Amino acid sequence: MCPAGAALRPMATKLKLVSLDDPVLRQQTKKIRTVDADLLRLIDEMFEAMYEFRGVGLAAPQIGLSLRLAVIHVPEMDPIALINPEVVHREGFRIVDEGCLSVPGWRGEVKRSVTVTVKALNREGKQIKLTAKDNLLAEAFEHETDHLDGMLYIGRLNSPEKLWKLPPEEELEEEVEETEPEPPPKRRRPKAQAHDPERK
Ligand code: NI
Repeated sequence: MCPAGAALRPMATKLKLVSLDDPVLRQQTKKIRTVDADLLRLIDEMFEAMYEFRGVGLAAPQIGLSLRLAVIHVPEMDPIALINPEVVHREGFRIVDEGCLSVPGWRGEVKRSVTVTVKALNREGKQIKLTAKDNLLAEAFEHETDHLDGMLYIGRLNSPEKLWKLPPEEELEEEVEETEPEPPPKRRRPKAQAHDPERK
């Protein structure tokens, strides 16, 4: 997930976001068997990439890896690495507007749970259980575990109309710079809109 109006900067990270039509975004991910030094290095790289992409969450499929792994860092909370996360409890629902690093320039309205509990391994390989209620973290738990089940938020829109393009000033700097003179602003949809986005 990432905040509205987040701007990309020149990248130091070697990780790249896959495009929205990459099949890896719609696959069930593989469970991680061993928490070892390589995995911890990958987790660190994912955090680094997430900060550069100005996201608050990043799931492995978004960088082309079909692994059950996600990182989350919601403002004013501790960073969280989730290895093999599963949502084990949801309660209530609320309507939120959401964005996704994999669907840049768009936001949409989705129904999410009020309370979300995830079970996962932490970077020490220990089982953890985390509960978030009525906040961005709860949203991120569902959004990122959805990614690991091959689901993007655009697949959970309240209705097809509940997806909107951000005004140009809120778009990513790079995208704006690269944009050739555009046809008159119309509501356009991402190519793979039939499926599912992560910006917050
Ligand atoms: Ni996302």
